[in-house]
Order: sequence, then C-alpha cells, then structure tokens
Amino acid sequence: MNTGKPFQEVELPEQKRQDDGVVFPAVLLPNTSTNATATELNAFEDAIRAHKPWLESILLKSGAILFRGFPVISPSDFNCVVEAFGFPELSYMGGAAPRTQVVGRVYTANESSLYKEIPFHHEMAYLPNPPTKLFFFCEEEPRIGGETPIVLSHIIYIRMKDKHPDFVSKMEEHVLTYMKIACDDDDPSSYAGSSWKTAFKTDDKNIAEERAAKLAGKLKWTGNSVKMISSSLPVKRIEEESGRKTWFNSLAVAYCGPATENVDNHNTSVELGNGSPVGDDAVKYLLKVMKEECVAIPWKKGNVVLVNNLTVLHSRRPLIKPPRRIPASMCK
Ligand code: FE2
Repeated sequence: MNTGKPFQEVELPEQKRQDDGVVFPAVLLPNTSTNATATELNAFEDAIRAHKPWLESILLKSGAILFRGFPVISPSDFNCVVEAFGFPELSYMGGAAPRTQVVGRVYTANESSLYKEIPFHHEMAYLPNPPTKLFFFCEEEPRIGGETPIVLSHIIYIRMKDKHPDFVSKMEEHVLTYMKIACDDDDPSSYAGSSWKTAFKTDDKNIAEERAAKLAGKLKWTGNSVKMISSSLPVKRIEEESGRKTWFNSLAVAYCGPATENVDNHNTSVELGNGSPVGDDAVKYLLKVMKEECVAIPWKKGNVVLVNNLTVLHSRRPLIKPPRRIPASMCK
C-alpha cells in the first residue's frame, strides 16, 4: 500500500491475517516512490521522528513491525534507530538472561547457546514492571534456523480458556510465583543463567537484596547460590486500548527451564501462588498452541523489529547453521 510516507506497507507470505483483517506483523519497506525515501540512516531517523504517531498506531494495531530494507548496518546504527523512536530506556535490573551492553541502549539479546530453543515469553513478565517495547536488530542473519517467532498473546489466552478453562481459572485465582537458582557466576549454558551479581549489578549481597526488594522479589542464600523468588504475579493482562485479555506471564519459559543446572525439575521454576504445582497437561497444550499460532519471518541482515511486549510473545528457534547476531534494546 502506498501511504505517501517514506514507508511502504507490504505483505509477506509468512504473515497472518487476523479476524479483524489486521496483518501480523506489519512489514514496512522504504517507499521508493516518494522524495523522502529513507535510504540513508539520517533520513530513516528523520522519517521515524516525523511519523512516530503513525508508526505507534501501526504497532498498536498489529502488535509488531518489521522494518526491512532500511540502511541499518551496525549496532551503532541500530542504537540511532532506537534513539529516534525516543521511548524511555529500561535498565535490565533483575533480568534472568545473560546479556552484555554492545553500544548505548543496545545489548546482546541472550548469550545462552544459540543452538537451544528459548520458549515463548513476554520479556521480563516475571517482574512487576516489564518493558513495554522491544527492539531486535539483525546484525548477522542466520544461515539456517535461529528465527525469532512471535505470537499474539490474546489469541493464546482465548485458546487456553477454550481448551483448559479450569486450569486458566485456577491460575487466575492463585497467580504465579517464579523461582530461579542463581550462582556467583553466569551460567552460559542456560537462557536464564545470569548470576545474582549480573542480575543485580553488584557484588554485595545486601545491595542485591535491596534491589530485589525494589522489584518485589526475595533472595534466599544457600552457600554459593541464591534462590530468587518473584512476587506472585498475575497470569493475564487486559489490553488498555482493546480490553482484550492477554496471556501475560512467563509460564512456558519457566516451565521449560530448568533455570540453571542446579534446578532439575520444572516445579522449582514456577508454581502457583499457593505453592502447588502448575500441572503438566495444560502447559503441554500451551506450548503446542504457541507454535501453531506463531509467525516466524526469516531474518535478513539489517532488519529491525519493534515488538509491543505487552501484547506479543516472542521466542527463539534453535540455530542450525551460524552465524547469528541479533542484539536487542528494551524500553519502559
Ligand atoms: Fe526474550
């Protein structure tokens, strides 16, 4: 569709069309038929600033936007794109994943083995104030595998409620508590393997406890490791604009753990707020439904994806043939 803007909406075979006709995700290319074509980084940044309300309306409607074909080459370029949107930065305090700052607001996405799958999640849904928006950037495109599938969270809620209404009611009543064993050092073998020192950005146990408390969490020390226990968190959110219920939790990713090698059974990573196990059958159905409903567009070098973290879950497929470098940035 020609919008008369420096962006052009296109459709790809992988996209899904929802009942309301909206495609998921939106895909934007530079609009080569206007004078204001964003073929240079500066022009792309200007275009973002000039059309931010329009871009935000697309994000709200579609849940995610893939920007393809824009001149974003390096993590610094990506940082400029994130800055151009001007959403407030989120500090990665209390995060479960091992991550390193690349430049400015850009971090490695998750440093665990790229050959292992990361199940669907809303970023940091195990904390009271998760990011509202996420950016991903394809610095090096995977040869085979390594996609970042995304799925609309309200669809997952509807399908879970249809198939397992008692399970959903039980979860809504008792909410969820997440647990993770963290050691002194990062565990690169796990997608939730950040050490307590990395997670709370300190070597001091007292400061770590204070920072955990600010995130409404508790720390229980045992020898060289600590059990990080979240506050009890709801399993759903209501979308402000649409009133739709979303499957806003970390159940799939916590269930599929284990969070570290020290944790060897699912029920130690997530349980109901009353301390009972979540149960297996419904979670297995959940994992199946997420895969059925998701969209996985293969990465192309230079792609930037903006995700509404409040309405869309994401995951990572195992990499089959390297390389793959997809740094990320999170916004409040
Ligand atoms: Fe993530």
